[in-house]
Amino acid sequence: MYRRIVVGYDASAQSERALDAAAEMAKATDGVVHVVHNRLYGRMPEGLVRLAKDEGLLGPDILEKTRSGTLVADMEDLAPNQSSQRIGAVLADLLTSRAQQHLERCGAKHIETYTVAGDPAEEITRVASEVAADLIVLGSRGLGTVKGLMLGSVSQKVLHTSPCACLVVK
Ligand SMILES: Nc1ncnc2c1ncn2[C@@H]1O[C@H](COP(=O)(O)OP(=O)(O)O)[C@@H](O)[C@H]1O
Ligand SMILES: [Mg+2]
Repeated sequence: MYRRIVVGYDASAQSERALDAAAEMAKATDGVVHVVHNRLYGRMPEGLVRLAKDEGLLGPDILEKTRSGTLVADMEDLAPNQSSQRIGAVLADLLTSRAQQHLERCGAKHIETYTVAGDPAEEITRVASEVAADLIVLGSRGLGTVKGLMLGSVSQKVLHTSPCACLVVK
């Protein structure tokens, strides 16, 4: 039975289905769900930027920059270590607490969350090793915009390097 379950969450619809699957499994085994969210840097997907904006996470300095173009494009011009990273960090807190609430609503009882910053696949497998996970649950795709691929690069890399069984949710 799978009792130590790591799930990768990037706020995509598929990663929400991965949370559902992880919660179901944990309920059946009285297991622990470890949610890993790797901070989103650099070019931020439109949906997340909109979320950040709705939640009031973007200050007037950034909103000012959105006048002439899309927010995503403008954010690429921001200096590294400044607004983009700051938003990544604030979003990470928001998203991990959303994931936690989602799991609680699904009836999961034991939940740990991890915010990491690095290569998402490496970070997911690292946490899996650290908690001696017996299952990793991921969505087949995430926030990426490249169409037509069956697996995204994170799910593909985790499948290659995982120390344990993996469940890829569609
Ligand atoms: N930043 C991230 N943090 C945690 N998990 C992630 C992250 N990015 C992707 N994942 C996990 O990997 C799955 C597949 O996403 P990914 O391989 O990035 O596909 P895409 O290329 O469509 O974005 C997601 O559903 C999620 O479970
Ligand atoms: Mg992705």
